[in-house]
Amino acid sequence: MADYLETIEDRSVFPSIEPGSLRPLFPAVPPEAPEPLAAILDDYRRLVEPNATGWQHPGFLAYFATTASGAGILGEMLTAAIGQNAMLWRTSPIATELEEVVVDWLRQALGLLEAFDGLLTDTASTSSLIALAAARQAAGLDVAALGLTGRPDLPALRVYASAEAHSSIEKACMTLGLGRDGLVRVPVDDMYAMRPEALEASIAADRAAGRRPIAVVATVGTTSSTAVDPVSAIADIAEREGLWLHVDSAYAGPVALLPHRRAAFAGWERADSIVVNPHKWLFTPLDASLLLTRRMPDLRAAFSLVPEYLRTLDREAPVRDYNEYTPQLGRRFRALKLWIQLRWFGLEGLRRRIERHLELAQAFARWVDDDPDWERLAPVPFSTVCFRWHPAGAATEADLDARNAAIMDAVNRTGEIFLSHTRLDGRFTIRLAIGNLRTERRHVERAWALLREAASA
Ligand SMILES: Cc1ncc(COP(=O)(O)O)c(C=O)c1O
Repeated sequence: MADYLETIEDRSVFPSIEPGSLRPLFPAVPPEAPEPLAAILDDYRRLVEPNATGWQHPGFLAYFATTASGAGILGEMLTAAIGQNAMLWRTSPIATELEEVVVDWLRQALGLLEAFDGLLTDTASTSSLIALAAARQAAGLDVAALGLTGRPDLPALRVYASAEAHSSIEKACMTLGLGRDGLVRVPVDDMYAMRPEALEASIAADRAAGRRPIAVVATVGTTSSTAVDPVSAIADIAEREGLWLHVDSAYAGPVALLPHRRAAFAGWERADSIVVNPHKWLFTPLDASLLLTRRMPDLRAAFSLVPEYLRTLDREAPVRDYNEYTPQLGRRFRALKLWIQLRWFGLEGLRRRIERHLELAQAFARWVDDDPDWERLAPVPFSTVCFRWHPAGAATEADLDARNAAIMDAVNRTGEIFLSHTRLDGRFTIRLAIGNLRTERRHVERAWALLREAASA
């Protein structure tokens, strides 16, 4: 593990292989006899490490980073060794109570009031699913008991999120029986943020048509361009309309550790639930998502089911059995790695690293702005820059799309830097997202040099 991390920069951030080329390297049938560990580890080095995507590589500037810090890796090793299942207090008193401690530490670090309690899940997708299941339950239709089918009393249910909201919100609606039609995609302004007046109009139109609005999802840091929905204005509407407000800040949430940067989050303290992913910008090994909520009893109403074999003598005591708040029973001891990491970095260390990433993104945005051949395509509220090559008098939009795709591909083929893309207003947009623990200024400078080389080629 140490060797891998020490040599990470000598490796390609993305292996130059074709899909389907790996499977034939492995035996088609399972081993009948036990094999020596040395042989297994040799094969690990030969077959696994060179064919992995370099999420731990400082040149990883694609998607949103997930880096595993050394302290987090140690936490994962100890988690595996101690082998806890955090489903009941009885099945792991320490995993249960340390989860309460860590959730509360993170709440304080993010500057949120004590009214927020919560839990740890695997991903933001699960956290948002749980939040929206609770919102559905809180709508008073007792879906947990009665379901959604064969109920003539039930109007069509509606959830609202911006056109730029993450696909996990739509998936949650698919999973919860609301369907993709149950999600209303509210139009955005020219900064890619939800337009509150359009939200109001959508809700009014749905009510007039006999549909039942239940929740609104505001995003602070959208996936494509890291746009910030106006949470305060959305909270006003949610409050007036009696809707559950869920804030998805899976990527950007850790910025709230910096008190002077909290303006972007104004209004999120009024949310019913908030998701922030430590496995994105808090350098925690996948997986770790934090779901904070002021309405734990609604989560419990949505998911609690206690068969006899899960009943324990402690049930009358004030213990928390976390499985009652989630769809799954077995739960990982995620609090351990977070506890270790929070102590290892200190909030001060985390703030310093996040601030550095914010500064690097601003520097990159300036280089783009200052070069007449390049164009920035969105504001940079956090650490992600959206841009494209666009020299004066150049080509059609379709041609620009193709050329920018080729530029990104050329950079990625170097193996030094890994970028990803999105589409903004239909335009092919290169994204450079800084969030890897090991990324330094020289990597961002290298990305810029490679982009310009590729463009002139
Ligand atoms: C805003 C936002 N929400 C949710 C997610 C989904 O995160 P996860 O992979 O933890 O489910 C992402 C992923 O990038 C995201 O950017």
